[in-house]
Amino acid sequence: MKIAFIGGGKMGEAIIRAALNGKIGTAQDIIVSDISESRRLYLKKQYGIAVTADNKKAVTGGDVIVLAVKPQNIDEVLADLKGSLKSNQLILSIAAGVKINRIQKGTGHPGIVRAMPNTPAQIGLGMSGWTTAKEVTEKQMLLTQKILGAMGKEIYFGSEKHLDMVTAVSGSGPAYVYLFAESLIEGAVGLGLKRKDAEKLVIQTVLGAAQMMDKAGKTPAELRHDVTSKGGTTERAIKEFEKSKMAGIVEKAVKAAYERAKELGEAKSG
Ligand SMILES: NC(=O)c1ccc[n+]([C@@H]2O[C@H](COP(=O)([O-])OP(=O)(O)OC[C@H]3O[C@@H](n4cnc5c(N)ncnc54)[C@H](OP(=O)(O)O)[C@@H]3O)[C@@H](O)[C@H]2O)c1
Repeated sequence: MKIAFIGGGKMGEAIIRAALNGKIGTAQDIIVSDISESRRLYLKKQYGIAVTADNKKAVTGGDVIVLAVKPQNIDEVLADLKGSLKSNQLILSIAAGVKINRIQKGTGHPGIVRAMPNTPAQIGLGMSGWTTAKEVTEKQMLLTQKILGAMGKEIYFGSEKHLDMVTAVSGSGPAYVYLFAESLIEGAVGLGLKRKDAEKLVIQTVLGAAQMMDKAGKTPAELRHDVTSKGGTTERAIKEFEKSKMAGIVEKAVKAAYERAKELGEAKSG
C-alpha cells in the first residue's frame, strides 16, 4: 500500500513508524510532504522514506493520503490538493475538529476518513476513534483499520458526532492521567519522599494499574474494591477523594473538553 503524508510532525511520524513496524508498507511505499526542511531531512534519514515540500507531488500515486498538519494549516493543504486527487484515493485526516464535510468541500474529493488518535500512538499504545464519509469503500475501511491498528487500538463510529466525544475522552485523556500522576508525585514529595523516588513509584504504579485494567479481566471498579480493605489505608484515601467529589470533577472536565471540541469543530465547518 502506498501512503502519502501531508505533515510529518509528531503524529505523522507516529503513523509512519507504525506503518513500517506493522509492515503495512516499506520505506519505498511512503512519501512525506512537509514545509519544514529540518523535518524532511530528519524523516528521510531516520526512516529512508521519500520526502518533498510539494503537497501535490506527494499525493500522486498514494492509495491513502494522511493529513497530519495542525488544524490551522488544514485549509491551505486542502486548497493545494484540490484537483490533484483520483477517485480511488482515500484521505485519512487526523486534524482535530476538522469535519469530513470541510475536507470534502476543500478538496472536492468524497472519500474521507476522519480519525482521532492520541499521543501514546507514538509508542504503539495509541487509541483512535474514527468515522468515514459514506463514499468510503469496504476495502478502504479495512486499510484504515490496518493503519490505525498499527498504532494501538481503534474503534469505528458510525456517526461523526462521536468523534468530539472521543476527543474529550481518549484524545485529551492522556493529559488527565498525567495530571493525576503529577498530583500523586507532589503528594509523595509532601510526605517526605525524594522526587526521583516519588516519580519512580508513581510511574510504575500507573503502568501496573493500566496493565491490570487491560489484562486482569475485571472492571476498574472491581480492581479498586480488590485493593480497598475495610478500615485500611486505601479506604481512608478514597473517602477523601469522595468527599472532594472527584468523580463529579472528572465528569465536569470531560464535559468541558467535549464542549470545546464541538466549538472548535463548529468554528470553521460549513
Ligand atoms: N498531538 C496529539 O495529541 C494529537 C492527537 C490527535 C490528533 N492530532 C492532530 O494531528 C495533527 C498533527 O499534529 P502534530 O502534533 O503532529 O503537529 P506537528 O508536530 O506540528 O506536525 C505538523 C507538521 O506539518 C507541517 N506543516 C505545516 N503546514 C504544512 C503545509 N501546508 N504543508 C505541509 N506540511 C505542513 C509542520 O511544519 P511547521 O512545524 O514548520 O509548521 C509540521 O512539521 C493535528 O491536526 C492534530 O490536531 C494530534
